[in-house]
Amino acid sequence: MRPRDVSRLAKLLACRNTKLWDYLDALPIPIGVEPVSLGEGGTPLIRIERIGYGRVYAKFEGTNPTGSFKDRGMTVAVTIARSLRVHGVIVASTGNTAASASAYASRACMSCVVVLPRGKVARGKLSQAILHGAKIIEIEGVFDDALKAVMEFAMKTRMLYPLNSFNPWRLEGQKTIAYEIVSQLGRVPDNIIVPVGNAGNISAIWKGFKELIEWGLINETPRMIGVQASGADPLVRTWESGCDSLIEVSNPKTIATAIRIGRPVNWLKALKAVRESNGLFIRVNDDEILRAQAMLAREGLGVEPASAAAMAGFLKALDQGIVGRDEASVIILTGHCLKDPDAAMAHRFERYIASSKDEAIRMILRIVGGGYEGA
Ligand code: F0G
Repeated sequence: MRPRDVSRLAKLLACRNTKLWDYLDALPIPIGVEPVSLGEGGTPLIRIERIGYGRVYAKFEGTNPTGSFKDRGMTVAVTIARSLRVHGVIVASTGNTAASASAYASRACMSCVVVLPRGKVARGKLSQAILHGAKIIEIEGVFDDALKAVMEFAMKTRMLYPLNSFNPWRLEGQKTIAYEIVSQLGRVPDNIIVPVGNAGNISAIWKGFKELIEWGLINETPRMIGVQASGADPLVRTWESGCDSLIEVSNPKTIATAIRIGRPVNWLKALKAVRESNGLFIRVNDDEILRAQAMLAREGLGVEPASAAAMAGFLKALDQGIVGRDEASVIILTGHCLKDPDAAMAHRFERYIASSKDEAIRMILRIVGGGYEGA
C-alpha cells in the first residue's frame, strides 16, 4: 500500500519525537475512522552507556500505555475492530497481548476473552487482564495450545474477533517501531536486535523498513537479528537447518515466559525478514538473560526477561564478532520490568530489617560506613 502523503511522512522522519498515530498516512485506516488510542508509541531511544563505546541504543517499549510494544498493534487492530462494529475480542497470550487487548477492548467498550497457559504468565500481566475486566481462561499446556484453541474458536464460530498476531492490523501498528527509530536516530542503524516469540514483531519491524525503502524515504536497511531463549528456540533451529519447514519445540521452557513459544505462527515471515535483511537468529540461555537484565537495570533500564534476551543476544553477537563495535545497533526492549516482579525479585539483593528508628539509622551507618552522634 502506498501512503496517502509521502512528503508528509518524509517530514515526520526528519523530526525527533513522533508517536504512532502521527504515521496515520502509512496505516490502513479508512478515512473518517477515529483511532482507539491511549497514546502509544513515541518510546524513548536511549543510548546504552555501560557498553563503553559507540552507538548502541535501546528502544524502550516498556513505556507504552500498558508497558509493552503490544499496544502498537492493539491500538490499530482494535480501531479496525470497532469500525467493523465488533462487540467482543479474543486472544491467546503469554501475558502482554492479554494485558494490552483487555485495556484497548475496555477503551472501545468491547468484551475481551484471554486464553493463557496456566501458571506461566507473569503476575504483572495477569493482574492487568484482571483489572481491565477480561474473562480469563487458563489452559493446561503452553501458549501454542492456547493459540490453537483461539484460532479454532474464531474460525468455527466467528463470534469473537481474534487479536493475535496473525491479525494483519497488529503488524501494521508494530511496524511503526521502524519509522520511529529512523526519525529518532536520524539514520538507519546497522542492526536491529529483537526478542522473538510468536515472531510477529520482527516481521512487522522489517515491513516498516521495507516500506520506507519502497517509498524512497531511506536508501538502506538494517540487519534483523532475532533472539530466542535456548529452551524455546524453534526459529534458531530452523535457521540453522537451512530448511524451509519449521522445526517445532514441543515443550518450550525458559524464564522469559513472554517468548516461551514452540510453534511461532509468523515463523515464515520472520525467516524471510532475517534472510532478506542479511541477518540471523541467535539463542541465549536463561543465565545470560538474567545477567543482561541485571546489566540493563544498572543502566536504569528495568525490563522483563524476554526483553533482556535481546540484550543478551546483542552481547553474544558482539562477542562473536557478528556485530561490529563501530556499528550502530538498536536493541528492542519490548516490555517493562513491572510486568514480571517475580523475575526481578529472584535477583540477589541486600535487605535489612530494623525494629526501630535508631536501629535503622545504625544500619544505614554500617552500610555507608560513616559516623553520626545521635545513633
Ligand atoms: N517480548 C515480549 C515482552 C513479549 O511479550 C513478546 C510476545 C515478545 C517479546 C515476542 O514478540 O511474539 O512478536 O515475536 N508476547 C506475546 C504475548 C506472545 O502473548 O504477549 P513476538
